[in-house]
Amino acid sequence: MRGQHAASNLAGGGLTPRGRLPISTMQDYYTLRAPEYEQVYAKPERQPELQVLRDWVAAQVRGRRVLEVACGTGYWTAVAASSAASINAYDISPATLEVARAKGLGAHVKFELGDAFAPPAGDYDCVLAGFWWSHVPKSRIGEFVSALAAAARPGARLLVFDNVYAPGSSTPISRTDAEGNLYQRRRLADGSNHEVLKNFPARGALHASLGAACSNIDVQFLRYYWHLGADFNAAK
Ligand SMILES: C[S@@+](CC[C@H](N)C(=O)[O-])C[C@H]1O[C@@H](n2cnc3c(N)ncnc32)[C@H](O)[C@@H]1O
Repeated sequence: MRGQHAASNLAGGGLTPRGRLPISTMQDYYTLRAPEYEQVYAKPERQPELQVLRDWVAAQVRGRRVLEVACGTGYWTAVAASSAASINAYDISPATLEVARAKGLGAHVKFELGDAFAPPAGDYDCVLAGFWWSHVPKSRIGEFVSALAAAARPGARLLVFDNVYAPGSSTPISRTDAEGNLYQRRRLADGSNHEVLKNFPARGALHASLGAACSNIDVQFLRYYWHLGADFNAAK
């Protein structure tokens, strides 16, 4: 991945001389997190909103040929697989893909290794991105949206969802960088410590990021999550 502002990977948990965790890659972080990743969907207080998200995803992808960005362990792929015509899901981590493939979601679901900013070619009338937008540096959001728009058919549906910052529930923000990206310090079960880029965009920022590429942008904010549906422009 170019421009790694992403995550750090430091077994044992030391800090740099400036008091920061050293930065390595988002890929490293999610590779180490793969075995425990889906615990994030087990938080009791979040179950009602996760059900809202699952219902929304399953309804929105019905009958569509879906490109799924940064699919991780395939939690949302499984949700989408119940109603989508086909899914081509990709992620940069072989470890998360291994968990996803083991779900055995059917012949209409394909997983492949790939960078979110370089989607695999295919015939897609829907793009799905769960809990990935927050990890894209602000300086790369435009590039990311353009890559998706180029990969999908004109008029394709765009579905994005991610976290709302919920005080007292979300991991606190540890710092902000020069371009305004936020970071969190996270610890994995293996004892390693990571600094992860995690942005919490406001409604206006989402509209601004998508306004040139999409119409019918509908953003819904819940307590813990936001979800966004939009249509890519009919003409490229
Ligand atoms: C927060 S997880 C989301 C996984 C899944 N979409 C979900 O919602 O459960 C972020 C995922 O992004 C993947 N990732 C990190 N950098 C990536 C990149 N440059 N391209 C594609 N995937 C990437 C990680 O491996 C991880 O699986």
